This record gives sequence, structure tokens and C-alpha cells, in this order.
Amino acid sequence: MTTAKLMLDGREYELPVVVGSEGEVAVDIRRLRAETHAVTLDSGFANSGSCTSAITFIDGEKGILRYRGYPIEEIATEASFTEVAYLLIYGERPSAEQLDEFNRKLTYHSLIHEDMKNFFSGFPATAHPMAILSAMVASLSSYYPRSAIDNVELNIIRLLSKARTIAAFSYKKSMGQPFMYPQNDLTYTENFLHMMFAVPAENYHISPVMERALNLLLILHADHEQNCSTSTVRMVGSSEANLFASISAGINALWGPLHGGANQKVIEMLTRIRDDGGDYDKYVEKAKDKDDEFRLMGFGHRVYKNFDPRAKILKAAADEVLAEMGKNDPLLDIAKNLERIALEDEYFVERRLYPNVDFYSGILYRAMGIPTNMFTVMFALGRLPGWIAHWREMRNDPKGRIYRPRQIYTGSTLRHW
Ligand code: ACO
Repeated sequence: MTTAKLMLDGREYELPVVVGSEGEVAVDIRRLRAETHAVTLDSGFANSGSCTSAITFIDGEKGILRYRGYPIEEIATEASFTEVAYLLIYGERPSAEQLDEFNRKLTYHSLIHEDMKNFFSGFPATAHPMAILSAMVASLSSYYPRSAIDNVELNIIRLLSKARTIAAFSYKKSMGQPFMYPQNDLTYTENFLHMMFAVPAENYHISPVMERALNLLLILHADHEQNCSTSTVRMVGSSEANLFASISAGINALWGPLHGGANQKVIEMLTRIRDDGGDYDKYVEKAKDKDDEFRLMGFGHRVYKNFDPRAKILKAAADEVLAEMGKNDPLLDIAKNLERIALEDEYFVERRLYPNVDFYSGILYRAMGIPTNMFTVMFALGRLPGWIAHWREMRNDPKGRIYRPRQIYTGSTLRHW
């Protein structure tokens, strides 16, 4: 298959067909407007490939997710988050020396400029940590302003390392506790736990169970091809906006409850169901009712029409981590019961709605002592390597163009003032 035919207004046009390395077929319409004067209309871009990309492969029908060809199930159990970050950004697994060097750089760029600490005092104590994170990440561009190619690679390291410090500091700010500085003898994930949970008055013991759970959560969130926030990063970056500005835009896109903000909403929903006496059927009925705004948060996905493989991994991990920590969370039982009932219900079966990554992630964050309003920040930390990899891939594409979709105008025709 090399071409597709389009009949428009009595004329036939041949359109080239592009086939991806996993056999995905796309009709290439890049010359469509120039040749026919018509455009395509695809609200929500559900059928539009905005780019070619060699980073992540998803088969939503089969429930497959691979980073640079490696199955998520193998990466989840065998890799460290920084190794995955390297793989996503640079395309290949690092050698032992390359990984050491990458980790060393991440360690030595973890401090934020002391002046930036003043920004935190400007936010109210009730500020959502996503607002702080996006503002602070955009502000990094004023401290590291040169976005010329020679500085981009260093800025990537700075962003990966400093965003973690900013996230932990925003939590400390909300708690009214002193900031804990990163320590150079700790790994990337250990350092985050230290900055979040240590206090000056006592020695903080980093639990290996927590560290493993954090590593897993970050890896599972690390990339997911052209989702809303990643497309936003590419869109903003396509105007040649700098890395920090582009990623800050992605953080804001992630915040919405239909995207990364769903993890916070899931816990709020499970709590509401618990407080309302645990009547699952009532909430399943509400979710099905088109006159009711309630949706089953953490359910459904634009691409997965089968189990989200990340949700499967997290469900099993939630059981293990809670058992290892000696914790029992009634919300986990509510989540499992809700899943069971929904998966047997005709409405969800017909629409092929399954739990997504956000359905079980919150249970793990809760067990780790991470407050609900920090959940989406955790997602953002995990997603950083993916956003960076896409930004870099786009900027290195010699055929890259500014993102500028068309529209079909439906407003008034000419009228005079
Ligand atoms: N609860 C109830 N009904 C749902 C749900 C849900 N969670 N999700 C989809 N549906 C229904 C829709 O009402 C629609 O029904 P209809 O055909 O009768 O009109 C049908 O299933 C298709 O749903 P759409 O909204 O058209 O699917 P879309 O691909 O546009 O949206 C989305 C996907 C946003 C994820 C949606 O499923 C949703 O809102 N889920 C809840 C929020 C959520 O969990 N978001 C996290 C997604 S994962 C991530 O971003 C990390």
C-alpha cells in the first residue's frame, strides 16, 4: 500500500501512505491543502498523527506500551528511573559509564539558585503545588537564559534535577517546614524522598520499599507518546520557545482532571464513595447517567481500548507495597470493587472503558505519605524525560515546522461596522 485515493468535487487525488515500523498506516495529507484547497477536520485530533516519532510505541487495542522498543513490563522491574530517562532522551540504554556520568551530572545540578527560594514565600500557603511547579520551571529560563544548542544539553540536566528540588520545596512550603537541601551521596529517587520527608531535627531513614515504589511510579509515567501535555510541549517548542517555557506549558496541560489531574480526582472520588457508605452501584449508575456530570475518574482512555498495562502493574504493586509497609488502605478495596463492578457493566464493556494509570497510582502515593494535591506533581516528575525527549526530537528534526492547525470558520460572514 503506497497511496490512497481521495475523490473531492469530482476530481481524484492520490495521497501518499506512510507506514510506521510497527505497521501503523497513515494517509499523508501534507500536500492536501496546496493541491485541493480543502483541510481535514478532526476535533481532539483523535485520527491525526501530528508527527513521526521514534520514542514510544502504544498499541491500545492490545494493551502494549514500549519505550524505544522495550516493553514497559520489563523496564518496570529491571531499570532505574534515571536509566529510563537516558533511554528516552538519547535513544539507547546507557552503558555503565554513561549512566554513572548522567547520574553524576544530575547530582551536581540539583540546587536551585538561592534567589529562587524567595519565590516560594510569594505564594499563599494554600497554593496548589502544580501552580508553583509550572511557575518555577518557567522561571528557570531567567536563570539559564541561553537556549542556544550548546546549552540545551546542560539545560536538560538542570531541568531534570532542579524540578525534583522545586517539587519537594513546594511541599515543604505547604507544610510550613524548612527546605531540606539535596545531598550528593543520595541517588535521584532517594534525594527526592530526603528533600520531601527529612526534617533538620532528626535523621531520616530512606525506606527501600518507598524508594522502589517511587522508582516504579516515575518509570511508568515517563512517556506516553502524543498525549495532551506532550503535544503541548511540542506545540510550544515548535515556535522555538526555550526548553523551560515549553515544559512549563506541558505541566499546565497535565494539570487538568481529564489528563494527569485525574490521579488526585480518583482519590477524592474513592473517599467520597467511602464516606457515602461504599455504595458502588450508585456511583457506577451516576457515571453512566448522561445528565450527571460525574465520571468514573481513572477510567477510560483515548488510546487504550484494553487494559492500560501501567494500571495492571500498579494494581499488583499497590498490594505488594501496602503489605511490605504493613499498611491497609480501605480505598484500595473500594477501587478494586469499583473496577470489578464497572468491568462487568454493559456500559463500560460496550465503550471498552478500563482502568487507566491514574486509577491505582494514588493508592501508592498515599501509602508513601505523599499528600493528594502533590499527586499530579509526581506525575509531572515522572513525565519530564518524555517531554524532554519529544522536545529534543522535534527540535532536531530538519523537517520540523511550527505547529499551526487550520480551522473551519463558522462565524458571521462579512458585515460592516
Ligand atoms: N466514566 C463514564 N463514562 C465515560 C468515561 C468515564 N470515566 N470515560 C469515557 N466515558 C464514556 C463517554 O461518556 C463516551 O460515551 P458516549 O459514547 O455514550 O458519549 C465514551 O465513553 C467515550 O468517551 P470520550 O469522552 O469520547 O473519550 P475520549 O477519548 O475523548 O476521552 C478520557 C478519554 C478523557 C480519558 C475519558 O475517558 C475520561 O474523561 N476519563 C476520566 C478521566 C481520566 O481518568 N483521565 C485520565 C486519562 S489517563 C491520563 O491522561 C494519564
